[in-house]
Amino acid sequence: MSKKLKQIVLIGTILLLFVFICVSFYLGRQGRAEYKDEVEYVIGVSQANMREAWRLALIQEIQEEAKKYPNIRIIAKDATSIVDKQEQDVDKLLQFGIDLLIISPCDTGKMTEKVKEVYQNGIPVIVMDRGVEGFEYSLFIGPDNDMIGRQAGEAVVALFDGRPGTVLKLCGNVSATQNQERIRGFDSVVQGYSQITLETRYMEKELKDTAYDALSAMQEKLQDVDVVFANSDYVAQGAYEALRDMGLEQAIQIVGTDGFTGEDEGVDMVMQGKMAATISCPTGGREAIQYAINILEQQSGVPKQVILRSRTITRENADRYLAALKKETADTGNLITMGYSQVGQESKWRFANTRSIQEAAREFNIRLLFDDANQSQEKQIAAIRRFIQEKVDVIVVSPVVETGWDEVLKEAKAAGIPVVMSDRKVVTAEKDLTMTYIGADFLEEGRRAMRWIRDNITPHKQKMNILELKGNKGASPTEERGRGFAEILKECPNFQVIYSGYGNFTYEEGKEIIERYLQNHAWDVDVIYAHNDDMALGAIEALEQSGISPGTDVKIISVDATRDAFQAMVDGKLNCTVECNPLLGAPLMKAVRDMVSGKEMPVRIITEEKVYDQSVAEDFISQRVY
Ligand code: AHR
Repeated sequence: MSKKLKQIVLIGTILLLFVFICVSFYLGRQGRAEYKDEVEYVIGVSQANMREAWRLALIQEIQEEAKKYPNIRIIAKDATSIVDKQEQDVDKLLQFGIDLLIISPCDTGKMTEKVKEVYQNGIPVIVMDRGVEGFEYSLFIGPDNDMIGRQAGEAVVALFDGRPGTVLKLCGNVSATQNQERIRGFDSVVQGYSQITLETRYMEKELKDTAYDALSAMQEKLQDVDVVFANSDYVAQGAYEALRDMGLEQAIQIVGTDGFTGEDEGVDMVMQGKMAATISCPTGGREAIQYAINILEQQSGVPKQVILRSRTITRENADRYLAALKKETADTGNLITMGYSQVGQESKWRFANTRSIQEAAREFNIRLLFDDANQSQEKQIAAIRRFIQEKVDVIVVSPVVETGWDEVLKEAKAAGIPVVMSDRKVVTAEKDLTMTYIGADFLEEGRRAMRWIRDNITPHKQKMNILELKGNKGASPTEERGRGFAEILKECPNFQVIYSGYGNFTYEEGKEIIERYLQNHAWDVDVIYAHNDDMALGAIEALEQSGISPGTDVKIISVDATRDAFQAMVDGKLNCTVECNPLLGAPLMKAVRDMVSGKEMPVRIITEEKVYDQSVAEDFISQRVY
């Protein structure tokens, strides 16, 4: 397409969008009444700005997907990157009478209160791309920017193929969280290769022209550069044109991010050989509308966070990538056969988790082959092999430990059977052995436990002693709750962990650890941090048998938020429990049906979780369903 025609198309797109915004504004002034008969739901979209290409793409994807649902209308507002304006935009959308708000915040911190206000007033809120603090919203959908950075780093390293050389990072607004995360991910990979020199050029703005000017101004220095990493495809376009005008486009390769489709966009640049690779940064617009419909129709299975998958696009796979984007997905509703390998029956949480899986399977028309491994990895691996032999449609695993799964997961992949991780995660040497993870953010649970201690327990001595009851060694909840807790503990000089033991998430072993500790030490513990309620309740029994008053002589904080924990808080024996939601059945079965129907699977699907302490235990105990 000639430059002239490109400009006409660009101007046309902007004009079309301008008309759309004007119409939205006009309708906004008319109020919801204009729609009453034809439209069932009005969805308000508050976009941080419609200048950046990625944000424009998000709006366009939302509009495109919304066309599939004649009973909804979209009203979009452009905050032009101004927080005050975004707050006013949200108010105008509410005045109009929207049924649901989709918002991509200008600023994480400053929009938290406005999102919370809308959500607490009963309007569902889907937060996109940049998060807000806390969890006062219906659903967050966004990319994993750290992963995008790591994928870009891996793409750059592959270009060097072991040879020494220099990569130049073109960085824009480093105060933006997503840029910080991407650069962190990128550096974490490339810095692992001592033969690669990493240089950085900061730019005022992350635009095509600023990239062109930045590279043009450093022509001499480019003699030593082998690869340029551009933190957006538009920066990559500017970089390419600068290299071309300096006659360096053959000598220096480019890796970008965003992966937009369309003429001269990132994927097209890769296909034309102008870029070696780009890392897709999915906007989530399509998913936002699909989940909005689920929320408005009060369907089960809507999670709390959906972290979208990014792909490394090269000349070799670009055609397949584009074909996959165009693939229509439709859930036939046909029966799906699922092999489920469950950890065991070690805790009340697990019983609730198993019940949730079994109930949801019936609700979502899934034939469940269920195996309980009694906390044995060997039994889980044997079960997975049985599922492979039975040629199930999908295998789901809640792995007792993180490692030791590579071989059997490769067997499942070779058999063409997708594997989904439920509740717990695995760590494998080879990538893409599992389709997605559905469960909790264990790191955040550990942080919340220590934040509660920090904010609610006043030290009465120089060092307050903490005893930690850990789950089973090597399990992702054990490792991550420990790491998350330690991360916040580092900021609390008046607290220290003086003893920790593995209680394997069971009541009996939690009790035994306290009994053994009392046999070998004079009681000097101020706080007990238990990785789950069962171990905390076992510890409470041991303390009471020794005349120590749990909840007063020693404060106890645990994880899960089971009904028994609420009862212990009502009785004053437990001080706080951090929720880890076992009711994964519906989000899991919804994700499996989506996957089988051909939808791209998110990287992670995280469930909703809160923190409860004695001050609210009475209010909530009757509502606890597990
Ligand atoms: O994987 C989740 C953990 O496993 C729960 O916190 C615990 O109760 C269960 O045994």
